[in-house]
Formats: sequence, structure tokens, C-alpha cells
Amino acid sequence: MKSSETGRYTVFNNTMGTYNLLQAMVDLDLDANLVHLGTMGVYGYGQTGKATIPEGYLPVKTSTPDGEKEIEIVYPPMAGSVYHNTKVTDHQWFQFFQRNYGLRITDLHQGIVWGTQTPETSRDERLINRFDYDGDYGTVLNRFLAEAAIGYDLTVHGKGGQKRAFIHIRDTVKCVEMAINNPPETGDRVKIFNQSTETHRVLELAKKISEMSGVEINHIPNPRKESEHNELDVDNSSFLSLGLNPTTLDEGLMEEIEDIARKYQSRIDESKIPPSSFWTRDIEDAAKAVK
Ligand SMILES: NC(=O)c1ccc[n+]([C@@H]2O[C@H](COP(=O)([O-])OP(=O)(O)OC[C@H]3O[C@@H](n4cnc5c(N)ncnc54)[C@H](O)[C@@H]3O)[C@@H](O)[C@H]2O)c1
Repeated sequence: MKSSETGRYTVFNNTMGTYNLLQAMVDLDLDANLVHLGTMGVYGYGQTGKATIPEGYLPVKTSTPDGEKEIEIVYPPMAGSVYHNTKVTDHQWFQFFQRNYGLRITDLHQGIVWGTQTPETSRDERLINRFDYDGDYGTVLNRFLAEAAIGYDLTVHGKGGQKRAFIHIRDTVKCVEMAINNPPETGDRVKIFNQSTETHRVLELAKKISEMSGVEINHIPNPRKESEHNELDVDNSSFLSLGLNPTTLDEGLMEEIEDIARKYQSRIDESKIPPSSFWTRDIEDAAKAVK
């Protein structure tokens, strides 16, 4: 969302990457199950109020000449950014390639990932994952953790009533493994799992981390165009029924602050923390006026 060039790059890279992969599976006559890391953002935030978001398919009642019928449709997407829209486009290609060529595909509608280590990476420091905390690539909770580590006031976008879905990176990896081990059968529709374990409002998260670390909260002008208050209730029963045992924020947060954010705090560059990408020109102008 930074500029038209970066937007074009994102659309081209993400969409063509997906199309090329699907076409290659057809050309090679590959009987594989494609597992895609999609996002909860395809559903949009708050379009159905407090109704639980199902796993990809929405039951709807429709009138037909033979009376009312209940059918299931792909949940109407409502992406809020260029990036999320490419995930919507990916999904449309999945539906088409499944219908037209019978490909087996699983789309994981993933929440915001937090945390750093998996059991594998914690075996050796050289295996630790990237930890992004800047305004473009840093996800909200990892940003707050980095901020807490260096005593930088927690950057809440606007009022902070945005409710989002979260998952620890250990569970992300576990879910990918479960998706691989439970593929759709040939001819099945695209399988969709909601890959998230808890939902929270951004301000609630900031308060939690503020209490743990003593760092203050700073409401900054929202660089994004989004509703600052929404409901979000997500059905994640597929992974739970396959045996997922989630790492909760209450168990994992302190470990992240101590073992990652504080331990490596000397590597944090404070100048990278404030948002530098604004989603519309009006928002950019308003942010500059505040500075
Ligand atoms: N991090 C999150 O909170 C989150 C939430 C929902 C969905 N996702 C999705 O999960 C996936 C991984 O996200 P991440 O946060 O780990 O991102 P990341 O940037 O840490 O990892 C992306 C990886 O893809 C590689 N990559 C990029 N372009 C490539 C290309 N053309 N060919 C081959 N490899 C390429 C990068 O080198 C990098 O290793 C993405 O599809 C992202 O959209 C992430």
C-alpha cells in the first residue's frame, strides 16, 4: 500500500506466483495437495457483525422455483488491502483449478502470527526465525513485544478497537503439518481451515503487554484505512478436532519478551518503528500534519 509500484509488485508477484504453480501442477499432471497460507483478512472485518465466521463456506438460504433452499457458497470476500486482495484472487484461482482440473487444494485462512521459535528453531540460535517489527512487515503483537523490550511507547493505531485473530508460530507450523496429513480426496471442493487460536482487540493486547513490561501506550494516527472497532468470532473447530493444542498468549508472551525481544534488543533500530506507509493520500496528509 506504500505506492502504486509496490502495489503492482505485490499483485504481480503473488497472483502470478499462484497461477504459475497451479498451471505447473496441471502441466506436470501432479497428484499433489497444494497447501496455501492464506489469511483471515479475506473475510473482512465486521461485515457480519457478531456472527461466527465459518471455515470458508457460508450456508445461505435462497429462493428457487421449488421453494427455499439452503446452499453453501464461498464466504463473500471483503479484503481491506492490496495484499489481502491477492489472497482473495488466489482463492478464486483455487476454486477454478479444482473445478476445471480436479486439483486437490487446501487454503489456510490464517490469523496474525506471533512468537518466534518453534521446537526445531529453539535447538540452535542460528535457526531462529526473522522477527519483523517495522511498520510495513512487523505484525502487531511482535511490534508491541519489540517496543516493550526497548521501553518505546506501544504504537496503537487509532482507538485500538480492531479485533483480530492470532496464532503462535508453533501452532502455525503444526497446522500446516496437519493440513498436509489430512488432504482432500480427489474431486473434493477446496478445503478451507481457519488457522487461528484466539481473537483480541489491539488495545487489549497493548494493555496486557503494558502491564507485563511497564511501557506506556501511545495512540497514534491510524496509517491504515480500516474500521477502528469491529467484532470477530472465528470457527476454528477443524484444527481443534484434529488435536491442535494451542499456545495461548498468557503462556507464551512473557517468554517472547524475555527470550527474544529483550535478549536481542540491541539489534532494534528505533527509527524503523513508526509507520512509513499510509493507505490513502488523505491518511498520509493527516499523518504529516500531526508531525
Ligand atoms: N505473518 C503473519 O502474520 C501472516 C498472517 C497470515 C498469513 N500469512 C501468510 O503466511 C505466508 C508466510 O508469511 P511470513 O509472515 O512468514 O512472511 P515472510 O516474509 O517471513 O516469509 C515469506 C517467505 O517467502 C519467500 N518468498 C517470497 N517471494 C517468493 C517467491 N517468489 N518464490 C519463493 N519464495 C518467496 C521469502 O523469501 C520468505 O522466506 C505468506 O503467504 C503470508 O501471506 C502470514
